[in-house]
Amino acid sequence: EYRFPASFDEFPPLRNDALLQSAQGVSPVDLTRLPPIWIMRQAGRYLPEFQAVRKEHSFFTVCRTPELACEVTLQPIRRYEGLLDASIIFSDILVVPQAMGMEVQMLGGVGPHFPSPLKNPEDAQSRILDRKVDVYEELKYVYAAITKTRHGLEGKVPLIGFCAGPWTLFGYMVEGGGSRTWEKAKAWAYKSPENAKAVLQKIAEVSAEYLVGQVQAGAQLLQVFDTNADCLTPHGFDTFILPYLALLPKLVRSRLASLSIPCPPMTVFAKGATSPAQLSALSQIGYQTVGLDWTVAPRYARQHTGSRVALQGNLDPSVLLGGKEAIKREVRNLTWGPDGFLTCAREGIKGGWIVNLGHGITPGVDPEDARYMLERVRRECAKKSKD
Ligand code: CP3
Repeated sequence: EYRFPASFDEFPPLRNDALLQSAQGVSPVDLTRLPPIWIMRQAGRYLPEFQAVRKEHSFFTVCRTPELACEVTLQPIRRYEGLLDASIIFSDILVVPQAMGMEVQMLGGVGPHFPSPLKNPEDAQSRILDRKVDVYEELKYVYAAITKTRHGLEGKVPLIGFCAGPWTLFGYMVEGGGSRTWEKAKAWAYKSPENAKAVLQKIAEVSAEYLVGQVQAGAQLLQVFDTNADCLTPHGFDTFILPYLALLPKLVRSRLASLSIPCPPMTVFAKGATSPAQLSALSQIGYQTVGLDWTVAPRYARQHTGSRVALQGNLDPSVLLGGKEAIKREVRNLTWGPDGFLTCAREGIKGGWIVNLGHGITPGVDPEDARYMLERVRRECAKKSKD
């Protein structure tokens, strides 16, 4: 029977706090220390050791079995010993719709599948809005995995907890799976905006409670993945995305305060939300770090976020499919290119940087090419100037 740890003192002391320093804005890119690095989806199918676990166990069995979730979370930390500065708990954003009573399957070659997606506002009313969710009971397997992983990490690197942005989950719950256009979810929002907002509010409340539980279990930073933030109009973004992204840190902060637990740093990754207004807004809603996809130049992102937040990203994941020469060239561009992170820092532009890809690493990547990328980033960051 799982219980939250009585005190965080029972965990091994953290020996590498580069991520937390950068995410708290304590450490701007100052060219005297290496920025922290991790890889979105770093525990995944590109690793043969992950494939080996998946051959024996279904995707959600891995998520629901703390020993297995812990094991695959540690795999990239072991393989890239000394080259990664963070771990992220192995789970999925879709465990939240499951906790809300929806069935979700993971189909090989297809991806997530909801046999019974939300049909219409009346359906959402009875299945989602009128339903009380026992977040702790439904998701304590994630908490157990987090607590176990904090021990397994032996303080090597911090552990990140996560959830989805409400709009992204709404999309899956309405479409029943991934979609190119997300038109069912969009049609719903256009046709029944008040109902959509009520559902988004409910998802945000459940997600906030889930994030708080992850902190109680031992998560040291929280990231919100709003992967579908690119599919609405600017007005739609302001109506159905931004308010619910803003609600998460607000609810998490106040709930943790009432428990006398310090709020860890939070990161928002709203993929595709890269207009000046959107970057500016994301930097002012309670997150300490804004994640960037690869379509935005670091200099431009800094211009619109100021030094209010650290930035995370944003190497194109496809670069890792382009071979070593391309990796070297693109890492060079990310750091010391005319609009690169280190060029900006050299010019005195303030703000922290957490190195990452602009989206998750893909299954076709050779793990040795991923290692080469990590090494090249370190090499470029060790330089104090362009050459
Ligand atoms: O290492 C980590 O980053 C932690 C694990 C993690 C997974 N999913 C594991 C996973 C995280 C952070 C996620 C988040 C997630 N899940 C997102 C948001 C981030 C993003 O990448 O956009 C989304 C949209 C999902 C939903 C989801 N889960 C999809 C669309 C898929 C299918 C992907 C595919 O390419 O088939 C998944 C499955 C999934 N989640 C896998 C992994 C490692 C692969 C499935 C498998 O092992 O069979």
